Amino acid sequence: MGYLRTSCFCFTSLLVFPLALCFFLSFAIADLNSDKQALLAFSASVPHSRKLNWSNDTPVCTTWVGITCSADRTRVVALRLPGIGLIGPIPVNTLGKLDALQVLSLRSNRLMGSLPSDVLSIPSLHNLYLQHNNLSGKIPSSLSSSLTFLDLSYNTFVGVIPAGVGNLTQLSTLNLQNNSLVGPIPDLQSLRLKHLNLSYNNLTGQIPVTLQKFPNSSFLGNSLLCAPSPILPPPALPEKHKKSFWKRLSTKAIIAIAVGGGVLLFVVAVLILICIFKRRRGDASGTSKGKAVMGGRTEKPKEEFSSGVQEAEKNKLVFFEGCSYNFDLEDLLRASAEVLGKGSYGTAYKAVLEDGTIVVVKRLKEVMVGKREFEQQMEIIGRVGQHPNVIPLRAYYYSKDEKLLVYDYLPTGNFSTLLHGNKTAGRTPLDWNTRVKVALGAARGVAHLHLEGGGRFAHGNIKASNVLLTQDSDACVSDFGLAPLMNSHATPSRIIVGYRAPEAIETRKHTQKSDVYSFGVLLLEMLTGKAPIQSPGRDDIVDLPRWVQSVVREEWTAEVFDVELMRYQNIEEEMVQMLQIAMACVAKTPDQRPKMEDVVRMIEEIRQSDTEPRPSSEEKSKDSTTVQTP
Ligand SMILES: *[C@@H]1O[C@H](CO)[C@@H](O)[C@H](O)[C@H]1NC(C)=O
Ligand SMILES: *[C@@H]1O[C@H](CO)[C@@H](O)[C@H](O)[C@H]1NC(C)=O
Ligand SMILES: *[C@@H]1O[C@H](CO)[C@@H](O)[C@H](O)[C@H]1NC(C)=O
Ligand SMILES: *[C@@H]1O[C@H](CO)[C@@H](O)[C@H](O)[C@H]1NC(C)=O
Ligand SMILES: *[C@@H]1O[C@H](CO)[C@@H](O)[C@H](O)[C@H]1NC(C)=O
Ligand SMILES: *[C@@H]1O[C@H](CO)[C@@H](O)[C@H](O)[C@H]1NC(C)=O
Ligand SMILES: *[C@@H]1O[C@H](CO)[C@@H](O)[C@H](O)[C@H]1NC(C)=O
Repeated sequence: MGYLRTSCFCFTSLLVFPLALCFFLSFAIADLNSDKQALLAFSASVPHSRKLNWSNDTPVCTTWVGITCSADRTRVVALRLPGIGLIGPIPVNTLGKLDALQVLSLRSNRLMGSLPSDVLSIPSLHNLYLQHNNLSGKIPSSLSSSLTFLDLSYNTFVGVIPAGVGNLTQLSTLNLQNNSLVGPIPDLQSLRLKHLNLSYNNLTGQIPVTLQKFPNSSFLGNSLLCAPSPILPPPALPEKHKKSFWKRLSTKAIIAIAVGGGVLLFVVAVLILICIFKRRRGDASGTSKGKAVMGGRTEKPKEEFSSGVQEAEKNKLVFFEGCSYNFDLEDLLRASAEVLGKGSYGTAYKAVLEDGTIVVVKRLKEVMVGKREFEQQMEIIGRVGQHPNVIPLRAYYYSKDEKLLVYDYLPTGNFSTLLHGNKTAGRTPLDWNTRVKVALGAARGVAHLHLEGGGRFAHGNIKASNVLLTQDSDACVSDFGLAPLMNSHATPSRIIVGYRAPEAIETRKHTQKSDVYSFGVLLLEMLTGKAPIQSPGRDDIVDLPRWVQSVVREEWTAEVFDVELMRYQNIEEEMVQMLQIAMACVAKTPDQRPKMEDVVRMIEEIRQSDTEPRPSSEEKSKDSTTVQTP
């Protein structure tokens, strides 16, 4: 799988600058010129290992790498030079002079010395990324009140956290971990603060009450910090309040964007600049600029998940409470992405962020519901999906063109690959104990979903590839709650026939009983080692339940079982019991199928019937009094 670069949609052809702008050009040139001089002064005094494409004779806005200008190209609004080997101090009176700057990213360089106070006080500055440098000295105390994202982590800052941080009402992320800060933690007033990391400093005193909602991991490694005396669990907000809080946030965000953004023209122009910039950064192969500009998507060898994300929508990644990730949408879009798989609801990517965080991004296709309904469904998924055997949804993004979901990444993979993966590629066969453990975990996860919400929820897409495994083979059910978002008239080719209950194929409705059927197929799959047929449109469809039924009807034979299981001793009885559960689940009429909670109980009973540890090795000892170690 290749690593993919992000790129974006271009709408340059729409761009027609109003003539009126010409009148302002004289003012504009003066300002852009001062920005240019400041940038040149910066690049002249800070050595860098990769060449900066900045020269006095080339236009700043269109050819300089790392620069984003305002829509009318009169000011520099963003400077992004992550990881280009900048070495040494940031001189005063250089970047601090960019007084229209909104975004500054110089992370992952080797900047050192103190941070000039004129940078942090640029009035328009709202996102500052300086993490992973070697900046030292005190954090300047005059801070721009626009700051929303302040990341100074992994430097060597000393002294106290300036009290002014407490006055930043827009602040949503504050990362100061891995510095040498001392003194008390100021009371942070920002209601919007969602991510906080003060770990690995030398902070002292009490954690302010307003910050006690953050997890322990926000405060690790400050040995003298007093953990607040027994924290009461935060009162669970009634559902209604929660909702209005979310809504309020997003309305505010929309207003902020509308006001701050200079509206559409700005958006369009920024997009173009980003496109040009990104194209240049990427392989400098010969697609002509004109084509990229006119044609929307440039020819990219691979798919990616960012193409529908509008510039104005960045930072609108909605995180769920209690999630400790601290990246923004921009970070996510810059991450390298690898396709994990294409499922019925869209493509899943493994995204590796610059700081090494790995998440799964699912890019949904053919979402049929509007924004409001989508958000409501996300809230349900976030709330109902809180169970050790359900993979938690961490964040989502919604725009007209793009819907992204962010999940934890489980490196062990899914049950399907573990069962059917290529044996020559070093896959070790799953032993019986592991299979039972996975089945039980998955059953518990599904049963939880069924019991929550008074029995209103069905999963709708249970299959082995939606059962993910932790390193300890604990199963986590994924993809819950997505079925209601999708076009219910999906073309038959997208339906995973092998797992679908007969009535669900007809009605295209998912019920808890059709979930039970799908789960039964999953059990058969793990017993037989055969994958349910997933490619409809072929004539030779072998339906796993029917195949098992036909074999079993003739005589209860071991023929149905996976040959990989044959080497384990003393498990026939358990396998037969499991087969009976599976057959009950795949009963033709929904009413005859057990409930998911009963399935859990039955699997648990199989396990309880053996009080001794089960042999799962190839030992041949049949002496029933011998306790065998796995
Ligand atoms: C650098 O700028 C020149 C124009 O001055 C442009 O032709 C070239 O593509 C740029 N190179 C990079 C790597 O951005
Ligand atoms: C960071 O700066 C300090 C001096 O301020 C220096 O001793 C140290 O070697 C630097 N570390 C790196 C990784 O450059
Ligand atoms: C924070 O704001 C208050 C009220 O606006 C002001 O009195 C105080 O000086 C500010 N603190 C800092 C450190 O800027
Ligand atoms: C952050 O600090 C902790 C504790 O000193 C250390 O274990 C960890 O490696 C540090 N991380 C980085 C990236 O320096
Ligand atoms: C914290 O303070 C102690 C003693 O004052 C010092 O030894 C230690 O290195 C400091 N840790 C950090 C992360 O600055
Ligand atoms: C946080 O720390 C407290 C005190 O050490 C501990 O009792 C509590 O279990 C911790 N919580 C988490 C989530 O680790
Ligand atoms: C804070 O950073 C440390 C690494 O220095 C990490 O271990 C911890 O999980 C982070 N906490 C949060 C809440 O992100």
